[in-house]
Amino acid sequence: MVVGANGSGKTNLLESVHVGTQGFSPRTRSDVQLIRFGADSARVAVVVDRQRRNTEVEVAIVRGEGKRARMNGAALRATEQLRSELPTLVFTPDRLVVVKGGPGVRRAYLDRTLSRLLPARANLPIAYGEALGQRNACLRKIGLGLSTNEALSPWDEQVATLGASLQLVRRQAIELLSPRFADTAAALGLDGCRLDYTGEPLTTQLLAQRLSRDLERGTTGCGPHLDEILVCAGSRELRSFGSQGEQRAAVLALLIAEAELLMEQTGSPPILLLDDVLSELDGARRQALAERLAVLGQTIVTATSESTLPVEADQVVRVSEGSAEAV
Ligand SMILES: Nc1ncnc2c1ncn2[C@@H]1O[C@H](COP(=O)(O)OP(=O)(O)O)[C@@H](O)[C@H]1O
Ligand SMILES: [Mg+2]
Repeated sequence: MVVGANGSGKTNLLESVHVGTQGFSPRTRSDVQLIRFGADSARVAVVVDRQRRNTEVEVAIVRGEGKRARMNGAALRATEQLRSELPTLVFTPDRLVVVKGGPGVRRAYLDRTLSRLLPARANLPIAYGEALGQRNACLRKIGLGLSTNEALSPWDEQVATLGASLQLVRRQAIELLSPRFADTAAALGLDGCRLDYTGEPLTTQLLAQRLSRDLERGTTGCGPHLDEILVCAGSRELRSFGSQGEQRAAVLALLIAEAELLMEQTGSPPILLLDDVLSELDGARRQALAERLAVLGQTIVTATSESTLPVEADQVVRVSEGSAEAV
């Protein structure tokens, strides 16, 4: 548990754990923002205990030079590689967009989740995106009279095959998440929670039916890049009809569901970073959350005071004016 007054550096500390294990900030894509005011570089070094073997990770950001990561001393080609090595899941108040934001946010969220839960299919969202980009480029060429409809057919095949697979794998990920999602959401006071995937299975026939409209717009008008994932409680869609507290409970329940599944699959729990979540929950829900977290064992929660957590933390870190100290 990380405790400290407002503005003392709790979120900074959580952010650095995320940077050190994932290679990027959950808050901003602008890496230079992570460098301390007035300094030229930032560095995060972590030692991870994985199945009793220590892994050392270092991420460094140098103003004007970019970012590099090392694992056990060896440079990584891209900091993104860390993501497939060390799972870290994060909740911050910004994460409410998963429920209340547009459909693109939920698609991206589900695609990241499926790449962790079904690592053999992790590449599918990217492969589909690439094929789609090629098809769209081809549509525009035809529109400009630089190509003919025949040139589309290899892309149609690829987009339809990859698209249908992506839809299937997304549904699989939802099925995996669903029981635990509903269960945890109920413990947090939200009954009947579920994820609904809506989208017509992509086929070459479907692409053919839309061809004239697609040519007109220069973009593909059906497929998993347009499907919707609805987060519902009973008959209510939470994006439009959920209170802030209910949206928070749903996002937390999704996160915990994924963490529990990852623990079951890999034998060790992911790192779970929960920023500013306790103060918004009433006593009963705090208790329910604490019970789930006790099983997950690798969770860091922030709060302004220790008493916000209804169970005793394994370790308390006090943060003050940008310095952290184990209590
Ligand atoms: N790049 C930076 N360098 C130095 N201080 C920063 C930087 N970015 C933010 N801060 C400071 O960190 C403080 C906020 O810390 P934060 O971790 O959000 O606190 P909290 O404990 O409330 O979560 C602010 O005072 C802000 O000015
Ligand atoms: Mg904070």
